[in-house]
Amino acid sequence: MHSRRLEPAGGYGGRVSLSGAWEDHADEWIAWARTSSYDGFWEGTWPALRAPPGPTRSPADRPGARDSAVGLPRTRACQTGVVTDHYADGTYRWWHLSEASPELVSALGDGWLPGGGRILDVGCGLGTEVGHLAAVGWQAVGIDLSAMALARAAAGHDDAAFLRADVRALPFGADSFDAAADRGCFHYLPPAARTRYAAELRRVLRPGGRFLLRASLRAAGERNDIDEAVIVGCFARWRIDAMTRAAVPSDTRALDVLIARLTAPLRS
Ligand SMILES: C[S@@+](CC[C@H](N)C(=O)[O-])C[C@H]1O[C@@H](n2cnc3c(N)ncnc32)[C@H](O)[C@@H]1O
Repeated sequence: MHSRRLEPAGGYGGRVSLSGAWEDHADEWIAWARTSSYDGFWEGTWPALRAPPGPTRSPADRPGARDSAVGLPRTRACQTGVVTDHYADGTYRWWHLSEASPELVSALGDGWLPGGGRILDVGCGLGTEVGHLAAVGWQAVGIDLSAMALARAAAGHDDAAFLRADVRALPFGADSFDAAADRGCFHYLPPAARTRYAAELRRVLRPGGRFLLRASLRAAGERNDIDEAVIVGCFARWRIDAMTRAAVPSDTRALDVLIARLTAPLRS
C-alpha cells in the first residue's frame, strides 16, 4: 500500500506521518478498531446500537490517551464508549455508494468545482469520493473518525491521502485546501457542534474555496432537524450558490438529502 504523502507545509504539526500511520501500523489500526470500545461517531444516537451496560473500555481509552500508532490524541467522540464500528458490522452499507455521487459528478462536470487543486473530504468513510477526486486530478485528502474505514480507504486508493481526525478539530493549517466535500457526515454531528464544524471548514479552506455539502434528512431512519434554515444559519457568512433537496442513491436504497454548494467567505 502506498499513500502519496500530501501534507500541509510544516506537516501535520509534526505528529502524523501518513505512511507511518497506515503502512507501518495497519494491523494495529484494525485490531484497535475491532475493540469493543471503539468508535463513538454515533454518540449514542442509534438506540439499537448503544453500548450494553458494564465496563467496555480498555485502559488505553482513558481521557487523554493517545493513539499509539500515530500519536494523535483521542478525540472526545472516541471516548464516549459507544461499542460498534459500523464499518465492521456492515451498517455502512445502508448509506454507502460505491461510486462517485451524482452531486459530485455534476459539480465537477459543470465547473463549479474546477479541476485540480487540493480538496478535503470530511467523513470520507471508505474513500469513494476521495478516490474519484484523485482520479480526475485533485490532490485529495480524506479524514474520518473510523480507523477501520480509513484502513480500507487507504488500501483501495493509493493515489490519495487519508488521516484519522475529527472534523471539529481539523489537523490542518489555515487555507490548506481549495475545496472540500462532505457526503453524509454533517448530519451526524450534534446540533451544538455545527458552528464549530462550519468554522473549521472555513479555516482550512482558502477564501473563496468551494464546499460541496450533502446532509441527510434522516439519521437512523428518523427525520432529523436539518433543513435549509439550518444550513443558512450554520454557514451564515458563506455564499450559498445552490441548495436543493434530492433523493440520491446508496448501494441499497434512496436517501433523502439536502445538497448545498457553498463558497467560503473572504476573511475580514
Ligand atoms: C454516513 S457516513 C458517510 C461516509 C462517506 N462519506 C460515504 O459517503 O460513504 C458518515 C461518516 O462520517 C464519519 N464521521 C462522523 N462524525 C465524524 C467526525 N466528527 N469527524 C470525522 N468523521 C466523522 C463517520 O465515521 C462516517 O464514516
